[in-house]
Amino acid sequence: MSEGVGPRAGRHAGGWGHGVFGRAGALVVAHRGASRYAPENTLTAFRLALDQGARAVECDVRRTRDERLVVIHDATVDRTTDGSGLVSALPLETVRSLDAGRWFGAEYGGERVPLLEEVLSLVRGRALIQVEIKKDPIPAAGIESQVVSAVGACGIEGDALVMSFDHQSIRIVRSLRSDITTGILYAARLVDPVAAARAAGATALCLEWTYLDREVVAQARGARLGVCVWTVDHEAAFKRCQELGVDAVASNDPLLLLRLAAEGGDDP
Ligand code: G3P
Ligand code: CA
Repeated sequence: MSEGVGPRAGRHAGGWGHGVFGRAGALVVAHRGASRYAPENTLTAFRLALDQGARAVECDVRRTRDERLVVIHDATVDRTTDGSGLVSALPLETVRSLDAGRWFGAEYGGERVPLLEEVLSLVRGRALIQVEIKKDPIPAAGIESQVVSAVGACGIEGDALVMSFDHQSIRIVRSLRSDITTGILYAARLVDPVAAARAAGATALCLEWTYLDREVVAQARGARLGVCVWTVDHEAAFKRCQELGVDAVASNDPLLLLRLAAEGGDDP
């Protein structure tokens, strides 16, 4: 594998609100870690992203049957582990006993589904983080306060952006702690994205990049909202995001985007 631009000294200064939103340059966010190169949402994938030079990562959080927060994308463990079943139906002990790396490559055998607190501790002081609350298919009532507590316990309130497709969740997060940056996820052309963000009390629009256009960026800027997009794995798409002036771009291939950003002098 080719080398990245290398780890940076210190974390991204200013956190999301003051360090990223509205500033020049698009922050590269390692989506599920460096998930093109290592099994997604594992400590190895997050470590690799940091080693590649990423100053922000994204992770997905779900709750086990015994209400522990784990980092995994799908509602079931089937695709990314050697087990089966809904995460919400399995106790932590079972989820932690599964192999979360071998599906990606034999060399990753023994990788575990991480706890949210492990991922937060890993990135603390080194990178910003987007924590996506996943509530499907069976809503996990109270997961919002657990996520907020985990972020607070780790002391990274300013460096965490909590987001969800479940905008009610974001409203709850906002009501629990007004100083945590929040984003509404959506994959659509909303009639009024600013109103949607305001309804949820969100401070950022987090949209699929294919719905990005000048108008939504202008609307966000006018309302002092951040603009984050996902998932951008190709040069042309990244260039469009740069041209339109988005704040953060999530990619499964942070190495590629970091290199492109450095070449273009667009490396906030
Ligand atoms: O960064 C947001 C993005 O992760 C939302 O989609 O399915 O990859 O979690 P998904
Ligand atoms: Ca996600």
